[in-house]
Amino acid sequence: MASRAEILRELNLGPEWRLRHGVGKATADAGTRTERAPSAAAQTSTGRLERIAALSWDAFAADVDACTACGLCRTRKRAVPGVGDVRAQWMLIGEAPGAEEDARGEPFVGQAGKLLDNMLGALGMNRRENVYIANVLKCRPPGNRTPEPVEIEACRPYLERQIALIRPRLIVALGKSAASLLLGTDASIASMRGRVHRYRDVPLVVTYHPAYLLRSLQEKAKSWDDLLLARRVLAASLSGAEPLQRG
Ligand code: URA
Repeated sequence: MASRAEILRELNLGPEWRLRHGVGKATADAGTRTERAPSAAAQTSTGRLERIAALSWDAFAADVDACTACGLCRTRKRAVPGVGDVRAQWMLIGEAPGAEEDARGEPFVGQAGKLLDNMLGALGMNRRENVYIANVLKCRPPGNRTPEPVEIEACRPYLERQIALIRPRLIVALGKSAASLLLGTDASIASMRGRVHRYRDVPLVVTYHPAYLLRSLQEKAKSWDDLLLARRVLAASLSGAEPLQRG
Protein backbone atom coordinates (compact mmCIF):
# COMPACT_ATOMS: atom_id res chain seq x y z
CA MET A 1 0.00 0.00 0.00
CA ALA A 2 1.26 3.51 -0.84
CA SER A 3 2.44 5.57 2.11
CA ARG A 4 0.70 8.78 3.08
CA ALA A 5 3.60 10.83 1.70
CA GLU A 6 3.49 8.89 -1.58
CA ILE A 7 -0.25 9.46 -1.96
CA LEU A 8 0.13 13.17 -1.25
CA ARG A 9 2.94 13.34 -3.78
CA GLU A 10 0.84 11.51 -6.34
CA LEU A 11 -1.95 14.03 -5.83
CA ASN A 12 0.56 16.82 -6.29
CA LEU A 13 -0.25 18.11 -2.85
CA GLY A 14 3.29 18.82 -1.70
CA PRO A 15 4.00 19.22 1.99
CA GLU A 16 1.37 18.20 4.49
CA TRP A 17 -1.52 20.58 5.01
CA ARG A 18 -2.90 20.93 8.51
CA LEU A 19 -6.56 20.80 9.37
CA ARG A 20 -8.10 23.66 11.30
CA HIS A 21 -7.68 23.60 15.07
CA GLY A 22 -10.00 21.25 16.93
CA VAL A 23 -13.71 21.89 17.17
CA GLY A 24 -14.65 24.33 19.91
CA LYS A 25 -11.05 25.22 20.79
CA ALA A 26 -11.29 28.98 21.04
CA THR A 27 -7.98 30.81 21.07
CA ALA A 28 -7.10 33.72 23.35
CA ASP A 29 -7.24 35.83 20.24
CA ALA A 30 -10.78 34.62 19.55
CA GLY A 31 -11.89 35.59 23.05
CA THR A 32 -10.69 39.13 22.56
CA ARG A 33 -12.45 39.36 19.26
CA THR A 34 -15.74 38.08 20.68
CA GLU A 35 -15.71 40.81 23.33
CA ARG A 36 -15.28 43.50 20.70
CA ALA A 37 -17.77 42.01 18.22
CA PRO A 38 -21.06 43.82 17.64
CA SER A 39 -24.00 42.32 19.50
CA ALA A 40 -25.98 39.46 17.97
CA ALA A 41 -28.91 41.85 17.69
CA ALA A 42 -26.86 44.23 15.54
CA GLN A 43 -25.65 41.37 13.37
CA THR A 44 -29.15 40.21 12.56
CA SER A 45 -30.87 43.58 12.45
CA THR A 46 -33.85 43.55 10.15
CA GLY A 47 -32.46 46.25 7.89
CA ARG A 48 -29.28 44.29 7.27
CA LEU A 49 -31.14 41.06 6.63
CA GLU A 50 -33.49 42.74 4.20
CA ARG A 51 -30.62 44.44 2.38
CA ILE A 52 -28.66 41.20 1.98
CA ALA A 53 -31.76 39.26 0.94
CA ALA A 54 -32.25 41.73 -1.91
CA LEU A 55 -28.62 41.90 -3.12
CA SER A 56 -27.93 41.41 -6.82
CA TRP A 57 -24.76 39.62 -7.95
CA ASP A 58 -23.36 42.98 -8.98
CA ALA A 59 -23.65 44.26 -5.43
CA PHE A 60 -22.91 41.02 -3.60
CA ALA A 61 -19.11 40.96 -3.44
CA ALA A 62 -18.83 44.63 -2.50
CA ASP A 63 -21.34 44.13 0.29
CA VAL A 64 -19.35 41.20 1.68
CA ASP A 65 -16.12 43.22 1.36
CA ALA A 66 -17.65 46.01 3.42
CA CYS A 67 -19.20 43.72 6.05
CA THR A 68 -18.36 44.46 9.68
CA ALA A 69 -21.03 42.28 11.26
CA CYS A 70 -18.56 40.21 13.27
CA GLY A 71 -15.03 40.59 14.59
CA LEU A 72 -13.46 38.69 11.68
CA CYS A 73 -13.57 41.88 9.63
CA ARG A 74 -10.75 43.19 11.82
CA THR A 75 -8.35 40.36 11.07
CA ARG A 76 -9.17 39.42 7.47
CA LYS A 77 -6.94 40.51 4.61
CA ARG A 78 -9.67 39.94 2.05
CA ALA A 79 -13.22 38.76 2.23
CA VAL A 80 -13.88 35.59 0.21
CA PRO A 81 -17.39 35.75 -1.24
CA GLY A 82 -17.30 32.71 -3.56
CA VAL A 83 -16.19 31.54 -6.98
CA GLY A 84 -17.69 29.89 -10.01
CA ASP A 85 -20.58 29.84 -12.37
CA VAL A 86 -23.50 31.83 -10.99
CA ARG A 87 -25.86 29.67 -13.05
CA ALA A 88 -24.32 26.43 -11.79
CA GLN A 89 -26.36 23.34 -11.03
CA TRP A 90 -23.78 22.24 -8.43
CA MET A 91 -23.11 24.32 -5.35
CA LEU A 92 -20.29 23.23 -3.03
CA ILE A 93 -20.17 24.74 0.44
CA GLY A 94 -17.12 24.59 2.70
CA GLU A 95 -16.36 26.08 6.09
CA ALA A 96 -14.25 29.22 5.98
CA PRO A 97 -11.27 30.72 4.16
CA GLY A 98 -7.78 29.72 5.27
CA ALA A 99 -4.59 31.75 4.93
CA GLU A 100 -4.24 31.40 1.15
CA GLU A 101 -7.91 32.11 0.53
CA ASP A 102 -7.65 35.16 2.80
CA ALA A 103 -4.69 36.42 0.77
CA ARG A 104 -6.27 35.76 -2.64
CA GLY A 105 -9.96 36.36 -2.00
CA GLU A 106 -10.98 33.02 -3.53
CA PRO A 107 -12.24 29.89 -1.77
CA PHE A 108 -10.33 26.62 -1.75
CA VAL A 109 -7.08 27.73 -3.32
CA GLY A 110 -4.80 26.05 -0.75
CA GLN A 111 -3.91 22.38 -0.43
CA ALA A 112 -7.48 21.35 0.38
CA GLY A 113 -8.59 23.26 -2.69
CA LYS A 114 -6.10 21.38 -4.86
CA LEU A 115 -7.60 18.13 -3.68
CA LEU A 116 -11.10 19.48 -4.34
CA ASP A 117 -10.06 20.58 -7.83
CA ASN A 118 -8.60 17.13 -8.47
CA MET A 119 -11.83 15.47 -7.38
CA LEU A 120 -13.92 17.79 -9.53
CA GLY A 121 -11.53 17.15 -12.42
CA ALA A 122 -12.01 13.41 -12.03
CA LEU A 123 -15.73 14.05 -12.49
CA GLY A 124 -14.98 16.03 -15.64
CA MET A 125 -15.80 19.31 -13.89
CA ASN A 126 -13.92 22.43 -12.85
CA ARG A 127 -14.53 25.29 -10.46
CA ARG A 128 -15.56 27.74 -13.15
CA GLU A 129 -18.15 25.76 -15.11
CA ASN A 130 -21.47 24.55 -13.73
CA VAL A 131 -20.06 24.66 -10.19
CA TYR A 132 -20.20 27.43 -7.61
CA ILE A 133 -18.06 27.21 -4.48
CA ALA A 134 -18.79 29.17 -1.32
CA ASN A 135 -18.08 28.93 2.38
CA VAL A 136 -20.21 29.24 5.49
CA LEU A 137 -17.94 32.11 6.56
CA LYS A 138 -16.69 34.72 4.12
CA CYS A 139 -13.78 35.80 6.32
CA ARG A 140 -10.91 33.80 7.76
CA PRO A 141 -11.00 32.87 11.43
CA PRO A 142 -7.48 33.64 12.70
CA GLY A 143 -5.26 30.61 12.98
CA ASN A 144 -7.92 28.65 11.04
CA ARG A 145 -9.82 28.06 14.23
CA THR A 146 -13.31 26.63 14.06
CA PRO A 147 -15.98 29.28 13.33
CA GLU A 148 -17.90 30.50 16.33
CA PRO A 149 -21.71 30.36 16.35
CA VAL A 150 -22.00 34.15 16.41
CA GLU A 151 -19.84 34.38 13.28
CA ILE A 152 -21.86 31.71 11.50
CA GLU A 153 -25.10 33.51 12.31
CA ALA A 154 -23.69 36.85 11.17
CA CYS A 155 -22.59 35.36 7.84
CA ARG A 156 -25.58 33.09 7.25
CA PRO A 157 -27.61 35.72 5.31
CA TYR A 158 -24.85 35.91 2.69
CA LEU A 159 -24.85 32.17 2.12
CA GLU A 160 -28.64 32.14 1.99
CA ARG A 161 -28.57 34.92 -0.58
CA GLN A 162 -26.00 33.04 -2.68
CA ILE A 163 -28.18 29.93 -2.64
CA ALA A 164 -31.23 32.00 -3.57
CA LEU A 165 -29.38 33.70 -6.45
CA ILE A 166 -27.81 30.53 -7.84
CA ARG A 167 -30.82 28.27 -7.29
CA PRO A 168 -28.58 25.17 -7.48
CA ARG A 169 -30.09 21.82 -8.38
CA LEU A 170 -27.74 20.13 -5.92
CA ILE A 171 -25.78 21.19 -2.86
CA VAL A 172 -22.69 19.35 -1.57
CA ALA A 173 -21.88 20.20 2.04
CA LEU A 174 -18.13 19.85 2.52
CA GLY A 175 -17.66 19.03 6.19
CA LYS A 176 -19.45 19.55 9.45
CA SER A 177 -19.85 23.33 9.50
CA ALA A 178 -21.75 23.44 6.22
CA ALA A 179 -23.78 20.29 6.93
CA SER A 180 -24.75 21.44 10.43
CA LEU A 181 -25.77 24.89 9.30
CA LEU A 182 -27.78 23.78 6.29
CA LEU A 183 -29.44 20.78 7.91
CA GLY A 184 -29.79 22.18 11.42
CA THR A 185 -28.20 19.16 13.06
CA ASP A 186 -25.11 18.32 15.04
CA ALA A 187 -24.91 14.80 13.59
CA SER A 188 -21.53 13.46 12.43
CA ILE A 189 -20.52 13.44 8.78
CA ALA A 190 -20.19 9.66 8.97
CA SER A 191 -23.86 9.38 9.95
CA MET A 192 -25.07 11.88 7.33
CA ARG A 193 -23.14 10.82 4.26
CA GLY A 194 -24.42 8.23 1.80
CA ARG A 195 -27.96 9.64 1.91
CA VAL A 196 -29.80 12.43 0.19
CA HIS A 197 -30.87 15.30 2.44
CA ARG A 198 -32.70 18.49 1.51
CA TYR A 199 -31.96 22.12 2.11
CA ARG A 200 -35.37 23.70 1.58
CA ASP A 201 -36.31 21.86 -1.62
CA VAL A 202 -32.77 21.36 -2.92
CA PRO A 203 -31.19 17.86 -2.70
CA LEU A 204 -28.11 17.98 -0.49
CA VAL A 205 -25.30 15.45 -0.19
CA VAL A 206 -22.90 15.56 2.74
CA THR A 207 -19.26 14.59 2.50
CA TYR A 208 -15.98 14.99 4.35
CA HIS A 209 -14.16 18.29 4.18
CA PRO A 210 -11.19 18.10 1.77
CA ALA A 211 -8.84 19.27 4.53
CA TYR A 212 -9.94 16.30 6.62
CA LEU A 213 -9.27 14.03 3.65
CA LEU A 214 -5.69 15.28 3.54
CA ARG A 215 -5.27 13.93 7.07
CA SER A 216 -7.39 10.81 6.65
CA LEU A 217 -6.57 9.48 3.24
CA GLN A 218 -8.52 6.28 3.88
CA GLU A 219 -11.73 8.36 3.78
CA LYS A 220 -11.00 9.61 0.27
CA ALA A 221 -12.76 6.65 -1.32
CA LYS A 222 -15.87 7.49 0.72
CA SER A 223 -15.77 11.09 -0.41
CA TRP A 224 -15.41 9.95 -3.97
CA ASP A 225 -18.52 7.76 -3.48
CA ASP A 226 -20.32 10.81 -2.11
CA LEU A 227 -19.50 12.84 -5.20
CA LEU A 228 -20.69 9.98 -7.40
CA LEU A 229 -23.90 9.91 -5.36
CA ALA A 230 -24.22 13.66 -5.86
CA ARG A 231 -23.83 13.24 -9.59
CA ARG A 232 -26.52 10.54 -9.67
CA VAL A 233 -28.81 12.66 -7.50
CA LEU A 234 -28.48 15.57 -9.88
CA ALA A 235 -29.06 13.40 -12.94
CA ALA A 236 -32.11 11.84 -11.31
CA SER A 237 -33.51 15.17 -10.22
CA LEU A 238 -33.08 16.57 -13.72
CA SER A 239 -34.90 13.56 -15.15
CA GLY A 240 -37.52 13.43 -12.38
CA ALA A 241 -36.45 9.93 -11.18
CA GLU A 242 -35.49 8.82 -7.65
CA PRO A 243 -31.72 8.28 -7.20
CA LEU A 244 -30.15 5.21 -5.63
CA GLN A 245 -28.76 6.22 -2.24
CA ARG A 246 -25.31 4.68 -2.12
CA GLY A 247 -22.30 4.86 -4.42
N1 URA B 1 -11.41 25.33 3.82
C1 URA B 1 -12.67 25.77 3.58
O1 URA B 1 -13.62 25.29 4.18
N2 URA B 1 -12.84 26.71 2.67
C2 URA B 1 -11.84 27.26 1.99
O2 URA B 1 -12.10 28.14 1.17
C3 URA B 1 -10.54 26.78 2.24
C4 URA B 1 -10.34 25.82 3.14
